[in-house]
Amino acid sequence: MDAIQQLQQYIEESNRIVFFGGAGVSTESGIKDFRSVDGLYHMKYKYNPETILSRSFFTKHTDEFFEFYHDKIVQPTRNAAPNTAHKVLAQLEAQGKLSAVITQNIDGLHQMAGSQNVLELHGSIHRNYCMNCGAKYTLAETLANGTIPHCECGGLIRPEVVLYEEPLDDTVITKAIHAISSADLLIVGGTSLTVYPAAGFLDFYQGSKLVVINLDSTGYDSKAALTISGKIGEVLGQLAI
Ligand code: APR
Repeated sequence: MDAIQQLQQYIEESNRIVFFGGAGVSTESGIKDFRSVDGLYHMKYKYNPETILSRSFFTKHTDEFFEFYHDKIVQPTRNAAPNTAHKVLAQLEAQGKLSAVITQNIDGLHQMAGSQNVLELHGSIHRNYCMNCGAKYTLAETLANGTIPHCECGGLIRPEVVLYEEPLDDTVITKAIHAISSADLLIVGGTSLTVYPAAGFLDFYQGSKLVVINLDSTGYDSKAALTISGKIGEVLGQLAI
């Protein structure tokens, strides 16, 4: 049985599937990931991108933060559409076989593909709020407010995105751990599994069918029942579901 057939069989015999993904799920939608050789973190900037995307940089160099965030994070996402990976996962949920998508991505493409239960560990560019009065803004409303958006009350509008040095949302953490610990099949894809606490949630999986679908190897490959080195959209697109 080849790897795709094995994945097909795992999916057919499971009904509490959880998918855990990262930036590699959106590269086939034209959005660069972070750590691949052509990823965002390998480009040259005045500061290290992981420094720019931190709370302290946001506070001290607000203008430069928004310039980078707008040009390198928001703009590339605006015209992106869900790819086969997003669509297949939404179909599995619609069939009652997949209970949750847990993503490190902030692009909203899983929801755009029709997934309902999406746990966004790092937040979303589509949710923005005024740091003074708490008023909520969509991405379009925020962008209409300029690169450094301000609320009618004068407060700064920031994205509901988890920056480095910031904690993840407790409710999302609880839901993600519950989903993973009750999953019969855990499919991990398009992530280097190098950022914590996100990557550590995999340790709550109690089943025996961990599948990793990733272009590069990951630190969890040795624990996987099945590893597939390939493009996740192409791999999931070969499934008969
Ligand atoms: N199919 C499968 N795997 C892919 C594909 C693809 N089409 N494209 C890229 N990959 C793999 C790469 O080989 C890489 O291992 O996806 C992984 C992407 O890893 P990262 O760029 O590190 O992205 P991610 O794991 O999501 O990063 C986690 O880091 O900076 C933070 O907040 C940011 O959420 C992000 C977190």
